[in-house]
Amino acid sequence: MSIKAIRGFKDVLPDEIGWWQKVEGIASGILDGFGYKELRVPIVERTELFARSIGEDTDIVEKEMFSFSDRHGDSLTLRPEVTAGAARALIEHNLAADGRPVKFYSVGPNFRYERPQKGRQRQFYQLNVEVYNVAHPYVDAELILLWTRILAGVGLQDIQMHVNSLGCAACRPAYNQKLKDFLKDRLENLCEDCQRRYDTNPLRVLDCKSKTCAETVTEAPLMLDELCPECAEHFELVQKALTSANVSYVVTPRLVRGLDYYTRTVFEAQTGKLGAQNAVGGGGRYDNLVKNLGGPDIPAIGFAMGLERLIMLLSEDQELDSPGPDLFMASLDDAARELAFTFANAIRAQGFRVEMEYTPASLKSRMKRAGKLKADWVFILGPDEISRGQGILRNMGAGTQEDVPLDEAVTKIINRMKKGDAV
Ligand code: HAM
Repeated sequence: MSIKAIRGFKDVLPDEIGWWQKVEGIASGILDGFGYKELRVPIVERTELFARSIGEDTDIVEKEMFSFSDRHGDSLTLRPEVTAGAARALIEHNLAADGRPVKFYSVGPNFRYERPQKGRQRQFYQLNVEVYNVAHPYVDAELILLWTRILAGVGLQDIQMHVNSLGCAACRPAYNQKLKDFLKDRLENLCEDCQRRYDTNPLRVLDCKSKTCAETVTEAPLMLDELCPECAEHFELVQKALTSANVSYVVTPRLVRGLDYYTRTVFEAQTGKLGAQNAVGGGGRYDNLVKNLGGPDIPAIGFAMGLERLIMLLSEDQELDSPGPDLFMASLDDAARELAFTFANAIRAQGFRVEMEYTPASLKSRMKRAGKLKADWVFILGPDEISRGQGILRNMGAGTQEDVPLDEAVTKIINRMKKGDAV
C-alpha cells in the first residue's frame, strides 16, 4: 500500500499555490510599507520555551504540542506558534537594546495536535506579526489597521474585527477573583474542561463554545468594567485611534484568547463562514512575556493569521487568476524538438514563460495542449516548416498566424510577443 500524508497534514498542490503566493506577496508588500522586516525562526524549540510563554494551563501546552526527546534526552517541541520563538530570538540577539520600535513578520508552519476538521489542521501556516518596544496605544491601533489593510488587499469580505482589553497585573487578579466568586455557585453548569479551568484559568470560561457554559456566563462580571485607570485609558486611546483610522471594529467584552501571555488589548478577526473555527486570526499585547523569558522589560504586541483559513475563505468567492505561458513550442517530431529546445531556452533567457513537450506528437494534439495551458502564442515547427526554413507563429487570442524565418526565430518571436498585438 502506498504511504499517505499523516492525519491533519496537508499538501499544498501546484494548482493551489497561486493563492499562497498572492496572499504572501500582498501581505509582505503592505508590511514593508509599515516598516516590518521578515524574521525566520526555527520550527523546533525547547519545550520549556512554549510552556513558559503560552502558559502551562492552556489547551495548547496541556494537550496539543508535538513534543519529543532528542537523542540526548532534551525535550523539544514543534512550534505551536511563532510569538515565543520570536521573543526568544529578540532576547538572544539583543535586538531591542536601543529602545526603538522593532517590527517583525514571519510566514511559516506551526503544529498543534488538535482534532482535524474544516479550518483546523495539525500543521497550519500563519502570517505572524510582532512589534516590540512600543507601549503607546496607537501602535495597537496601527497593527489592527495594518491587518485590515492586508485583509482588504487580498479581497476578503465579511470579516469582523473584535477588540477587548484583558487588563494588566494591577487589575486582572482582582477581576479573576470576582469571576471565580461568580462561577463558584454555578460550577455544576460548566463543562468538564471549564470546571478545571475554574481553578487554573477562569478567564477561558468566558469564551467556551459549550452552550451551557455560554449561558452560565451571560451575567458574569466583565474585565472591561474592572480595568484599572491606566488600562482603561489605554483601551480608550486604542479605540480613538481605530476610529480616526476608519477601522471598523466591535468591542467584545467576552473576547479572551487561548494563550496566557496577553495583557491589555486583545483582538480577533472573525467570520461566520468557517463553522466552529470562526477566527481567521488573533493577537494582542503581551507586555510581560519578554521579561518573563529572561529578557529586558519591554512592551510587545502582535497577531497571527491562519493562512489555510484565509485562503479557504478567499477561494469561496474569488477565481484564482493563473496566467498560462507566453509561448508554447508546438514541435512535432524529433528534428523540430532540437530546434524548439534551443529557441525555447533563448526566449526564456529574455524573461518570457515558455513551455514545450519532448516526444513527437500531432499538430492537433499540440494545439489542444496549448489551449489547455492557456498559452498566448504558439510556435509551430514540424518537418514541413523545417524544409521551408519558416516556422509558424500563432496568436491564440486573435487566431492569426504568420511565418517566421528559422534563422531569425528568437528575435522575431520576442519582438512579436513584446508588441503584443495580432500577427
Ligand atoms: P492563535 O489564536 O492561537 O494565536 O492562532 C492564530 C490563528 O492561527 C488562528 O486564529 C487560526 O486562524 C490559526 N490557527 C490556529 N490553530 C490552527 C489550526 N489547528 N488549524 C488551522 N489554523 C489554525 C497565536 O498563535 C498567537 N501567537 C498570535 C499572536 C502573535 N499574538 C501575539 N502575537
